[in-house]
Amino acid sequence: MTSVSDPDVRSSKPLPAVDLDALVIAAHGRYREHHPNSESAHTRARRVMPGGNTRTVLDFDPFPFRVVRADGPFLVDIDQHRYVDFCGNYTAGLLGHSPESVKDAIVDALAGGWALGATHEREIRLAELVCDRFHSIDQVRFTNSGTEANLMAIGTALHHSGRSTVGVFHNAYHGGVLSFGAVEGPHHPLNVPHRFRVAPFDDIAGLDQLFADLDLGCVLIEPVQGSAGCLPAAPSFLAELRRRCTATGVVLIFDEVMTSRLAAGGAQERLGVRPDMTTLGKYIGGGMTFGAFGGRSDIMAHFDKSSGGQLTQAGTFNNNVVSMSAAIAALSGELHPDRIDEVNDRGDRLRRDLDRVLAARGLPMWATGMGSMVGLHSSEDRLMELMFHAALADGLYLARRGFIALSMVVTEDHCDALVASVDRWAESLRTA
Ligand SMILES: Cc1ncc(COP(=O)(O)O)c(C=O)c1O
Repeated sequence: MTSVSDPDVRSSKPLPAVDLDALVIAAHGRYREHHPNSESAHTRARRVMPGGNTRTVLDFDPFPFRVVRADGPFLVDIDQHRYVDFCGNYTAGLLGHSPESVKDAIVDALAGGWALGATHEREIRLAELVCDRFHSIDQVRFTNSGTEANLMAIGTALHHSGRSTVGVFHNAYHGGVLSFGAVEGPHHPLNVPHRFRVAPFDDIAGLDQLFADLDLGCVLIEPVQGSAGCLPAAPSFLAELRRRCTATGVVLIFDEVMTSRLAAGGAQERLGVRPDMTTLGKYIGGGMTFGAFGGRSDIMAHFDKSSGGQLTQAGTFNNNVVSMSAAIAALSGELHPDRIDEVNDRGDRLRRDLDRVLAARGLPMWATGMGSMVGLHSSEDRLMELMFHAALADGLYLARRGFIALSMVVTEDHCDALVASVDRWAESLRTA
């Protein structure tokens, strides 16, 4: 049965009878007018950085605003505009900007020196906190990014299984070198050269083709696809994937770099499926560079030479004092389970409200996601562009692709302001 909130029904809604190209040109013109300093900075940046940036996702048309400071829920740009930050550094900013407890922990740690090149106690404390919180993680190791955590997890899982195929899903994003978009599939030019087999996401029947490969060694999956637009897998799909991995000795890896924020024990707790390995990153480092991979002790034992393990892990900054201290402060303070529940409840409400106003205005747009991860979609990209710029003009910053990662300091009032902004914009289309 279909309903008005069914994306298939929504995407077939007619476009508003307006000249969308002209509206986009006008929106860009207004943005340019109000951001002269960001425009000059962009010109300067493009001379020395291709495209004018060093993280492609931060770019948007006609040029991105440049931030001069960030505090709590706010970003301020070099043209002195203040934005409520709904992008939340693509989930890494769960605590909001510059949380005092994290800052204090870093300053305190720096007093004892930082480029140690030796083991220390902070990494033990952090590993204890991670293992306590995520039930599938008996043991853990740290990296500098989520990408690196996934690369390490894949390598470890293939070594453990003695096979060489990596199962992944359409539109999955596990890092810039592990990207499986609709157009390129596994052939993204920057992808690492593993033997990937790509299956449809959240499709039980599609698992047949994956498991037909007898060389399948591991399956890597985001329980809720983040970059693809906040698309949750059904618990029944994850349970079936778990069952097949167990039956065939395939290592199941949950990429919880984004989704671990969906419950204190991660999406695996919320969805009731326990993987063999889990990767983490983003917000756990309290906003500092962070990644981790961990899992069953018999798998992680490959790094323990006293148990005959043959793997080694390199990484000059793996146990860096700044990230370790920031993550300890985050996990033992701000990331209290009650606060995690609160922000996820707020995200659920925001998603429902956004979806409701988009449906009420009859636009081919809708909202998906789970908890504090919200994805806005449209069958017409110019509508996304217009909505994005209308929100910016109202001082509300979401990722250009319609991605929202609520932080703990973005309030109900801020959320209401975003819903009102989207509603006003949608109404303005009707009267344009
Ligand atoms: C699900 C997922 N995995 C891995 C990564 C890569 O993390 P990082 O950017 O820290 O390398 C990302 C980044 O967005 C992600 O969303």
